[in-house]
Order: sequence, then C-alpha cells, then structure tokens
Amino acid sequence: MISKTLRAECERVLVGNRITSTWQGRHYRYTRPAPMIYEQQWLWDSCFHAITLRWLDSAMAWDELRAVVAHQHRGGPDAGMLPHMAYWSGDAGALWPHTHCSSITQPPLVAVAAQLVHQVAPDRAALAELYPALAAYHHWWLRRRDPLGLDLVCLLHPWEAGADASPRWDVPMGFAGDAVTAHDVRSGLPAMQGTSYYANPHDNALRTARMALLKTLIAHDHDALALGEAGSFYVVPLDFNAIRCADLLALAAIAELLNLHADAAHWRVLHARSAAAIQARLAGPGYTDLLGLNATPQHMDGSALAVALVGQCLGPAGTAQAIASVRSALADAAHAPLCNHAPSAAHFAPARYWRGNVWPPLNWLAMHGLRLHGEHALANALAERTCALVQSAGLREYFNPVTGEGLGSQDHSWTALVLDMALTH
Ligand code: GLC
Repeated sequence: MISKTLRAECERVLVGNRITSTWQGRHYRYTRPAPMIYEQQWLWDSCFHAITLRWLDSAMAWDELRAVVAHQHRGGPDAGMLPHMAYWSGDAGALWPHTHCSSITQPPLVAVAAQLVHQVAPDRAALAELYPALAAYHHWWLRRRDPLGLDLVCLLHPWEAGADASPRWDVPMGFAGDAVTAHDVRSGLPAMQGTSYYANPHDNALRTARMALLKTLIAHDHDALALGEAGSFYVVPLDFNAIRCADLLALAAIAELLNLHADAAHWRVLHARSAAAIQARLAGPGYTDLLGLNATPQHMDGSALAVALVGQCLGPAGTAQAIASVRSALADAAHAPLCNHAPSAAHFAPARYWRGNVWPPLNWLAMHGLRLHGEHALANALAERTCALVQSAGLREYFNPVTGEGLGSQDHSWTALVLDMALTH
C-alpha cells in the first residue's frame, strides 16, 4: 500500500528532523516536529515518532522515548508531570516558569508507544528504565487533574488537548461563535512567519487568548480546583480521557512484563473506573465533553468518538456507535479520512488550523482503536485514505479534507505515521 518513494520520504523526514542534545550530563536524541516552525520536542509528537521509528530504527525509537521523559517535573506540586514541550536549548523562560520545559502536558501516550515499540523491538531493560517515569506521570494525573474525584481528568489549556484551536474550545475560551471584537484583532499576535495559520482574525484572537491563559495558569499555580473556581478553561474531553485509558492499559501490560503484578492490577482498576465514568457521564444520546466544575455537557463533533475507541472504554453500545461513526464519515466524504471537526458541524472550516482538517495522528489513533476492536476492514480504509492523501500532498502537518491540499508545516514528522499505518495494514 505504501510506495517505495513514500517510505523513503518518511525516513528522510524523520532523519532530517533528528536533534542530538545533552541534559544533566547525558546524551539524548529526539525528533523535532518540523524544521523552523517546531524546533522543540513535543510530548505526543515524540510518541508518534517512536511508533513509526520502530520500523526504521528501533534504537532511535527507544531514544525518542528516553528523551520524552528526560524533562519530567521532579519537584513542586506538579512532580511527575511530563511537559508538553521540552526546550533542550534552555530558552523556555520567555513563556514558561521554567527554563527547559513547559508547565502543561499533552495526551498521555508514552506507555502506548513503549508497548508498541517493544512489540517490534523487545527491550525489557528499556521498559524497566522508562517505567518509573510513566508510573509517576499517571500518579500525577490522578493527584492533580481529577480534583472532584470523578475518575475523569480535566485539561486546563487547549494546548493540552493537542488540538489547539478546535471549535470545541471556543465556548470554554469565552468565544461563542466566530465573533471577534476590534480589541481582539488589534491585540492579535503577528501571523506566524511562513504560515497562514493566523491570517484569520478569529484564529488570531483565539491564539492571543491562549497565550493570555498561560498567565492565569501560572497565577493559580496550575491548580485545577482553583482554576475551575475562577472560571478559567476547565474541560473534561471524551477523547482525551479515552487516550488516558489506552495508556493505563499499556502501562498495566508493561508492569506485567516487568513482573510488577500489584502495579498492573492498580492500573487496570484505574482503567475500569475511568471507563465506567466515561460511559456514565460522557455518553448520552450524543457524546459530550464536560465544561467547568459544574460539568456542563457540550456536544462534540468530528473524530473524537472514533479516537475514543483506542481506550477500550466505551462499552458495547458506545463502541458500536463509534464504529458506525467512522463508517458514516467515510461514506459521506469522497476521499478523505476523518476530520477533527465534522464537515456537517457548525464552524467547519477545512483550511483553518484545527477547525475541520485531516490530522494524521487522529487518524492513526482511530485506526489503532478500530484494530483493537477487530475492525480491520475499516481500519485499513482509514489507513489507505490517509496514505493516499500524503502520497499526493507530501508530509505536511495537516490536510484540507475537501481539496486534499497539504497545510501547515512541510516535512512534518508525525505524518510519517503513514508508514506504521501501511505496515500494520
Ligand atoms: C501544534 C499542534 C500540537 C502539536 C505541535 C507540534 O501545536 O496543535 O498538537 O503537538 O503543533 O506538532
């Protein structure tokens, strides 16, 4: 399914984006998402890089995961958190209260990635080395991001979702609809050089609001309850909680491999509790995210339900509904795989950043979730459509589902996931 040329392109991009660095006297290697625009290391990107690299260079795949835990927060209330960005060159201070990393996180997929790398390139010692960091990360989630004890975790910033500018965050960011005030436009940051991401005033205003939100987080010491009480961004998203479920199951499997049976049982209990909470609170006639401490349901569209398959947490009815949602999305679109925001939904904008585009990592997650449920034909269809798009538009960051045009940065590392999609076909 994948041509020799596309395979070679994936390898070229992953090798070309490789960075070597040192931290606390030790050498590390990681892959930046894309030259110029994304020079730092991002948490979930690196997990996807490792998943692809397992087929090309397994030593590098393990190194990528070692690098991702190198900047884990060691002290303070957020000890155990894996930062969503690591600044290996030490210039995080302009934006963050740290020199080498950010103070928020991203979708937890490190255990999933480690388990998948281990399947192709078994390395028990590497798993044993990573395990304490992965366990500390999940202890952190429980300690800091479920202040109400719902067995569901909350996000405090849209960047934590990975889907920065999704219309799902408009209301919790205080933007209802596409209305932008003159003030928002005036205070908008200049459009990112070399991209058209923020050419739209609404997108630009949202970005300004995301930057301002960082100050609120810092002022409240990143405390979820205090931020919820202050009416700041506080969202419990379906797909994110399902990804946490997937990571808990992978962590349980890793603990078993390391003969840590009591730990494995603990992670499985957390998975079962979270799955029950997802089914009780986030499922309904339609699926919802929850907003704020009073857990106001907000309908969600797009690929989130399909992505949630990866957590094996939806129960029989929810699983059937999620599989059906993929089938109907593929039937409705001529050639595109899944979009993060549905073409039929309000505010669908196929060329605007995160407002209705094809994102390779989301399609990979949905594909992997379908495989876990034995839905191989549908998983293969997603893989084929994603590969076809990348074959014609190149390794771009994301794609317009209507025209097939590649958007965002060029030579984007996570798009090499098409190699994994083809090889697990
Ligand atoms: C953008 C994406 C985020 C990703 C980063 C690097 O910020 O929204 O999900 O991790 O780019 O690719």
